[in-house]
Amino acid sequence: MDSILVTGNGPLSGQIPIAGAKNACLTLMPATLLSEEPLTLTNAPRLSDIRTMTALLQSLGAEVTSLQNGQVLAMSSHDLNNHVADYDIVRKMRASNLVLGPMLARLGHAVVSLPGGCAIGARPMDLHIHGLEALGAEIELRDGYLHAKAPRGLKGAVVDFSFASVGATENVMMAATLAKGTTVLKNAAREPEIVDLATCLRKMGARIEGDGTSVITIEGVDRLNGATHPVVTDRIELGTYMLAPAIAGGEVECLGGRLDLVASFAAKLEQAGVTVTETGQGLKVTRKGGPIRAVDVTTEPFPGFPTDLQAQMMALLATAEGTSVLEERIFENRFMHAPELMRMGARIDVQGGTARVTGVEQLKGAPVMATDLRASVSLILAGLAAEGETVVSRVYHLDRGYEHVETKLQAVGAKIERIRG
Ligand code: UD1
Repeated sequence: MDSILVTGNGPLSGQIPIAGAKNACLTLMPATLLSEEPLTLTNAPRLSDIRTMTALLQSLGAEVTSLQNGQVLAMSSHDLNNHVADYDIVRKMRASNLVLGPMLARLGHAVVSLPGGCAIGARPMDLHIHGLEALGAEIELRDGYLHAKAPRGLKGAVVDFSFASVGATENVMMAATLAKGTTVLKNAAREPEIVDLATCLRKMGARIEGDGTSVITIEGVDRLNGATHPVVTDRIELGTYMLAPAIAGGEVECLGGRLDLVASFAAKLEQAGVTVTETGQGLKVTRKGGPIRAVDVTTEPFPGFPTDLQAQMMALLATAEGTSVLEERIFENRFMHAPELMRMGARIDVQGGTARVTGVEQLKGAPVMATDLRASVSLILAGLAAEGETVVSRVYHLDRGYEHVETKLQAVGAKIERIRG
């Protein structure tokens, strides 16, 4: 298994290109199942999660061709010949559950394995099921699989989510595009990935309004067409690389970055003493000399501070002057990076969903272990600011969500390399 060796090496300088969003791509890809005509995605990220979704769609009979070195995904679902999303694929990645709504809408039936346990919390599917049942689906759990059918087709309905779940909003929104009549999603998630999906679905002929707000209205149509769509910028990769100069010092321009994608996160960086400026081609992040100030952070659905940047922010706050309080409100078990950061000298006290982080003057390099995707990159960020060598093992998590992390950081002067294992 590969590991990453990082050696603290002082201020960074240069540019980092930000890729298309993993989470947007993982919901745009299943949208191909809704149409017989081709759907082509450009600006796709090159990640193992995308390869997992490719394998899943292919197992259902879709054609998925990766072009231009993986940046273009040409898909076609004219001939779906399987309606079972197998446990062997689904267990690798929870986002596999996003094939449920589209398959049900297109074929009238679908069998999808429950994703099973996930390191960062229970992550059930009750909201997805509730939404699809409201549209008239009959869903049963048998042998670890959700068996869904809609013998008389799906029918528009009002769905009031008790929590603004990203995945449930995506699944039900996709299903509703082919339902008869009008669907209204209340307390819908407002994440940019939802807006990107709605934009793509509209190009395919869907009638959707209100995406980006908490009420989304979908007028069902008989069929959807093909389309070509560029995947929106990855706001989590963006935020992660914005933290690199924040923690190591220097100035880095994140190409393709947009402030509207990371506004609440950027506001916290500014509070901590880091400057964020919009340039014509992205976001520039500058930290010249001064200390990092402690700031309190609470994770919330968009437009609040993203849970997917909590671990990385903790690495920065571990070097701040004073004590920061980090509250995790989205996932119940998302502080597994804390004990690893503590191996590097961080002072962190975790009580339930709250972590109190008291900054130390200098983090120290150490062998650490990645426990999930975002945790792994938080350890790399900490390594950039640490004295000596940090070896992050189990980086297969990292490869699920960050393309060429070592190349991108090397380009701005970081001392980082992959050790093949
Ligand atoms: C998506 C993102 C993930 C991000 C998360 C929150 C993708 C592929 N993944 O995950 O990176 O961390 O949004 O921003 O886009 N929940 C239920 N019942 C359900 C569904 C969810 O209780 O039916 C709970 C979950 O356990 C969790 C919370 O709702 O505590 C948030 O989950 P959700 O918004 O659905 O996240 P995902 O779509 O899984």
